[in-house]
Amino acid sequence: MKILFLNGPNLNLLGSREPDKYGSQTLSDIEKQTKIEAEKLNTEIIFYQSNIEGELVNKIQESKGNFDGIVINPAAYTHTSVAIRDAILAVEIPTVEIHLSNIHKREEFRKNSLTAPACIGQITGFGAESYKLGLIAITDYLKNTI
Ligand code: DQA
Repeated sequence: MKILFLNGPNLNLLGSREPDKYGSQTLSDIEKQTKIEAEKLNTEIIFYQSNIEGELVNKIQESKGNFDGIVINPAAYTHTSVAIRDAILAVEIPTVEIHLSNIHKREEFRKNSLTAPACIGQITGFGAESYKLGLIAITDYLKNTI
């Protein structure tokens, strides 16, 4: 099984960015931990981060035929991006949305996700664990459907 982990804007700053909300681990720390879990599940994962909406859309489009599933933290694009939502719907690759913080417990504008309705489901609020939970969710889903 091959899973693409997509990370949106400002997630490259994890570790120093608002640690009270997002924790002290860097994206590279989270990637290493998630890879350890993926090996246990016999799954290959690739991490990608971009601050640019169109690059995330390109990655989703290029996933067709190359990845079995996607786990995405669209970051701020969660709340604004019709383009990322449409890309997920277009490729028809099972996708799980994840967030470090609980977006439903924060400002009003964060409570709405434009991307979640294009996904199987959403995992939000478990810090770095959300990545591991996202991996478990997508692999379980794919095992039961492939
Ligand atoms: C986030 C939540 C978003 O609202 C925010 O814009 C982020 C990170 C999270 O993982 O908690 O950049 O996606």
